[in-house]
Amino acid sequence: MNILILGSGGREHAMAWKLKQSKKVKKIFIAPGNAGTNTVGQNLPVDTDDFEQIKKVCIENCIDLLVVGPEVPLVKGIADYFLNDTILRAIPVIGPVGKGAMLEGSKAFAKDFMLKYGIPTAGYLSVTAQNLDEGISFLKKLKAPYVLKADGLAAGKGVLILQSLSEAEGALKEMINGKFGQASAQVVIEEFLTGVELSAFVITDGISYKVLPSAKDYKRIGEDDTGPNTGGMGAVSPVVFADKKFMDKVEECIIIPTVKGLSKEKIDYRGFIFFGIMNVNGDPFVIEYNVRLGDPEAECILPRLKSDFAEMLNACANQQLADYRIETDDRCAVTVMLVSGGYPDNYLKGKTISGLKEVSDCIVFHAGTTIDFTNETIKTSGGRVIAVTALDFSIEGAKKTATANAEKINYEGRYFRKDIANDLINYRLI
Ligand code: AMP
Ligand code: GLY
Repeated sequence: MNILILGSGGREHAMAWKLKQSKKVKKIFIAPGNAGTNTVGQNLPVDTDDFEQIKKVCIENCIDLLVVGPEVPLVKGIADYFLNDTILRAIPVIGPVGKGAMLEGSKAFAKDFMLKYGIPTAGYLSVTAQNLDEGISFLKKLKAPYVLKADGLAAGKGVLILQSLSEAEGALKEMINGKFGQASAQVVIEEFLTGVELSAFVITDGISYKVLPSAKDYKRIGEDDTGPNTGGMGAVSPVVFADKKFMDKVEECIIIPTVKGLSKEKIDYRGFIFFGIMNVNGDPFVIEYNVRLGDPEAECILPRLKSDFAEMLNACANQQLADYRIETDDRCAVTVMLVSGGYPDNYLKGKTISGLKEVSDCIVFHAGTTIDFTNETIKTSGGRVIAVTALDFSIEGAKKTATANAEKINYEGRYFRKDIANDLINYRLI
């Protein structure tokens, strides 16, 4: 099987790395990829939303399966593009059709879906310029803090949490007036939920589903969860507080109604569902849906997958997931993300990376890296640069190894959090 993975982050490197372990896979292509994916497969210089170029390279390279890493091409309808093309129709896509991708592409759609199918989530109201007054009245009924979400994709920046009513009213008006462009022409106002977050993942073929290991990611730039939000500074799996009792509730109250709801809506969903979940006193609530694997969660959970990933994707594509047996490594995984100086604001780029060969007992996944062919060096090219994952029978052991190895990798402006997973290590002691 020849597989094309779309994307260029640590998630895509982790998927390529895992697929490489399968005997079923002949060749892996990654578009556009990074310096790490090029060591596992072949990078193709194609943008993830240039569907015509993607078609061309699929044909040229006899691709048998397309795996879509990020959400944007899914929301733009890449799966529909393949289904509606007489040649591409034969190539299955891992990732939902555009209607299914709206679970991530439109917060209002996701909330209405959850309401319709009785899936626990925070109370909400969708607001546009037409019902702004109703929005203000709704805000007045809520208690601080106030949660405002741009309806559309806003590169992870579209959620605002405001401490006072006046700030929330001001932000609501700014959003409706185009703070995030078209993405915030509609805003979802949500009740604030207090609890601990985790990321739960399933792969579904539209009929059946398999639950993948769950993870907790660390979104803030600073230690002890301080400073601005980032794409994710690290992750840990499994999540200690997501025990069997809690995960049974997640499955019964969230996963099953979601998969059944998609089927009732006649949405052809073959791909991953990422449930952002808040554990509110032992009860799970959906904070958000994503229609892909998380990043850096993928770098943390795929190394814990013992079963064949290519077989899993193939079973998903052919609606045979019910017969697929998922096996997970009992060991814990901790992923530490190395980022560029300045990230998540303006950051440095083009810095030479050293120390990669010094890493031991860890898996290195590249994110924002490129190969400088003039002098055969690897340079930084993004905010999140490299993810280092370690496996160990204890979270503490995995964290120590990942952190010690992150220290060995260097470039000007390098930064990483040294407290990834500390809360879960301490959780065990309670
Ligand atoms: P999202 O992009 O929807 O994941 O939201 C970004 C972050 O905002 C989440 O990871 C939560 O930490 C926080 N958040 C979103 N919705 C809520 C909510 N209803 N209550 C509390 N926190 C929330
Ligand atoms: N780590 C969060 C995400 O991938 O959206």
